[in-house]
Amino acid sequence: MNASLATVSYIGATILFILSLGGLANPETARRGNLLGMIGMAIAVCATVFGPRVTSPGYAWIVGALVIGGSIGLLAAKKVQMTQMPELVALMHSLVGLAACLVGFASYVDTSIEFTGAEKAIHEIEIYVGILIGAVTFSGSVIAFGKLSARIGGKPVLLPGRHWLNLAGLLIVIWFGREFLHAPTIEAGMTPLVVMTVVALLFGVHMVMAIGGADMPVVVSMLNSYSGWAAAATGFMLGNDLLIVVGALVGSSGAILSYIMCRAMNRNFVSVIAGGFGTGGGAPAAAGGGQPAGEVSPIGAAETAEMLREAKNVIIVPGYGMAVAQAQHTVYEITKLLREKGVNVRFGIHPVAGRMPGHMNVLLAEAKVPYDIVLEMDEINADFPDTDVAMVIGANDIVNPAAQEDPASPIAGMPVLEVWKAKTSIVMKRSMASGYAGIDNPLFYKDNNRMLFGDAKKMLDEVLAALKS
Ligand code: TAP
Repeated sequence: MNASLATVSYIGATILFILSLGGLANPETARRGNLLGMIGMAIAVCATVFGPRVTSPGYAWIVGALVIGGSIGLLAAKKVQMTQMPELVALMHSLVGLAACLVGFASYVDTSIEFTGAEKAIHEIEIYVGILIGAVTFSGSVIAFGKLSARIGGKPVLLPGRHWLNLAGLLIVIWFGREFLHAPTIEAGMTPLVVMTVVALLFGVHMVMAIGGADMPVVVSMLNSYSGWAAAATGFMLGNDLLIVVGALVGSSGAILSYIMCRAMNRNFVSVIAGGFGTGGGAPAAAGGGQPAGEVSPIGAAETAEMLREAKNVIIVPGYGMAVAQAQHTVYEITKLLREKGVNVRFGIHPVAGRMPGHMNVLLAEAKVPYDIVLEMDEINADFPDTDVAMVIGANDIVNPAAQEDPASPIAGMPVLEVWKAKTSIVMKRSMASGYAGIDNPLFYKDNNRMLFGDAKKMLDEVLAALKS
């Protein structure tokens, strides 16, 4: 493949990636968006492998790497549960970071291209910044993986004087950057490069260890953004325009997503990144949490069915528990039955319900719930006072009134679905256990709230059977 064909292919791939991102913005076009992204990536890989920069002795290595990497990816994608997706994503971000570091070191020791004067300085800055971003992304993502998969505790680890530690790290990185640029030989430049890499790795660990509880989704999306910038830096080091563009697309879309999520959780982006849980200086997520505080009134499946049958307006609020129980199909069966009986059933989706952005939308789409009855939190929150039954299925933090009523709560200020304003709310979960943020939920003790204890799938099957009888 000659150089101009490769360039045309790169432009085609870039357009497909942009269209893919546009498609992913909406559940109805997401499938097409994914397909366009896959085609774009196939073109990009082919144009690179068969392009002018790869010579035939390199093919064996590339095929070997494709087979190994592709098999691991295929196996992981087949094995992973929907609820483990954020962990897998975090792990993949770590690989992008690692790749940026390795490419950085390889470019530095590669003497096949001679750089002089300003070009040399620019190349070295690319290497230094690329390894810096890559190392932070790598270690931060590994820690995020550990936290999300519960291999590392979810509570924030706040070292004394942590902001000073970060500042000291930054100063060391700047100082050694200067040393690196002034190094007369590759050997002399290696020491500042390695010192900076170690500092960057420690910074990544420190940054993510300090973030806890409900702020983790923002961190995953922020690391997504970092991995994009790491890929863009790799593009600069390798002189690959497509990698620069794609990296910038991932970097900026990740940054925008982080911003949207922060807004949805009423969090200040800087305070999330600075670490600690919440805005009040970082009280640990589980502080005082988990202890039941009051009387609850339980309800059975038959009575729940009775209330649903008699309601005019029902709002269903799904959460992480619905995903774990894989109850989405039964939820849809119930919805269909109620709608046939003339009940107005709609879904209220919180932006961070579940364990990843869009988690609930994906499950409901899989169960074929029509898109027009699935509404965002902002679209439906005002309708709760006119709702007869708000049915909460395996959700907890996203319906916690403490976010509005208790300024001392770790989730104070986070927007929530106001289910307690409905005539009756029914919360379906297995026990009185707390949710992801590790805090008690005063909703459970409200007079108009009933608890339907049990596995979401089992209880919904019983409700469905009662509705049919
Ligand atoms: P959570 O607050 O985590 O509550 C889920 C509830 O589901 C739990 O209290 C649990 O109670 C119940 N549950 C678990 N398995 C169940 C089953 N088989 N049947 C019935 N109930 C079951 O979930 P949420 O309300 O969806 O809120 C999401 C939380 O996760 C937020 O704090 C959010 O910040 C965080 N988070 C979100 C994301 C994204 S991007 N969405 C990523 C990471 C973290 P029992 O144990 O008593 O059953």
